[in-house]
Formats: sequence, C-alpha cells, structure tokens
Amino acid sequence: MPPDDLDDESVQQDRPPRRSPTIRTIAMPADTNPAGDIFGGWLMSQMDLAAGTVAALTARGRSATIAVEGMKFLRPVKVGDEVSLFADLVRVGRSSMHIRVQAWRRQREQEASEKVTQATFTFVALDDDGRARPIDQSGLADNRDQNAQR
Ligand SMILES: CC(C)(COP(=O)(O)OP(=O)(O)OC[C@H]1O[C@@H](n2cnc3c(N)ncnc32)[C@H](O)[C@@H]1OP(=O)(O)O)[C@@H](O)C(=O)NCCC(=O)NCCS
Repeated sequence: MPPDDLDDESVQQDRPPRRSPTIRTIAMPADTNPAGDIFGGWLMSQMDLAAGTVAALTARGRSATIAVEGMKFLRPVKVGDEVSLFADLVRVGRSSMHIRVQAWRRQREQEASEKVTQATFTFVALDDDGRARPIDQSGLADNRDQNAQR
C-alpha cells in the first residue's frame, strides 16, 4: 500500500513527508544546463538513485531500472537548493519493484519546501548474468517498514 502522502492528490501537497528523505543533496553549478538552470536529467538521476536504494534493499542484491512513468516537473530547481528525495515501495511483482519517488526543493536560506517533481520507477531484480530473477517475498513487509522509516 502506498503511504497516504503519495496518493494522486500529492501534487497538491504543501509539505514534504514527515520522515527522513532517502537521499538529500545540494544542486550545484555543475548540474546546470546551458541557460544556467538545473538540468532535468540531473534531477532524474537523483530520483533514480533514491529508487535504487529502495530497490537494493528490497531485492537484496543487483537490480536495474526498466521503466519510468508519470515524470512531471512541477517547479524549477535552482543552484544552491537543498533537494530531498523520498522513495517508497508501492508494489512488488515476481521480479519487478514499483517505487514512487518525489523530490522537494528548499532554498538554502528558507524554511519552506516545495515539491518539484514525482515519478514511478520500475526496477527489476537481476541475477549475476543480468537476467530478471525472482525476488524473495519473505520479509518484504519488514523492508517496507524500514523504507517508510527512512
Ligand atoms: C531488466 C531486463 C533484464 C528485463 O528483461 P526482460 O526480458 O524484459 O524481463 P521480463 O520480460 O521477464 O520482465 C521482467 C519484469 O519487468 C516487468 N516489465 C517489463 N517491461 C516493463 C515495463 N515497460 N514497465 C514496467 N515493468 C516492466 C515485467 O512485467 C516483469 O515483472 P514481474 O517479473 O514482476 O512480473 C532487461 O529489460 C534489461 O536488461 N533492461 C536494461 C536495464 C538497464 O540497463 N537499465 C539501466 C539503463 S542505463
């Protein structure tokens, strides 16, 4: 079950989830496009990293991104912003993991945060040969609890 703060109304959220983010980072000048704004691809890679953290814990091993759905850039990110990524496991299949990711920005000198993007990443657990492998479903509830507390 997705946490309450990740339903379809989440675009309307005016506050980030009340828990530690999966990843927190700072947008730097090296992450800008030629116009000087933060490059969307940088933000996507941060989201992929956050989802990958949850995937690794869930799959207990190697995994890879197979799909990204519903990517929406709601607000721009500026150089110097603190960017917090929240990743939540919403569904586990035989080998796949669906992970909802939301990103929030906070200007360095301000308290308030605003959501900048969200998307659902699908990861597939891989074996040593890079083929899809079944996920051990035992203990998944524990993993979800751990993810939710992060
Ligand atoms: C991941 C990979 C090994 C899967 O191979 P595959 O032959 O598609 O495997 P399958 O058909 O068995 O599908 C595996 C799972 O992915 C799911 N899946 C496949 N395509 C999907 C898609 N477009 N969206 C969401 N899920 C998808 C399947 O439903 C299946 O889920 P399940 O096992 O939980 O039922 C292969 O696609 C691959 O190597 N992709 C490249 C991954 C990668 O390099 N990512 C980083 C890019 S730089």
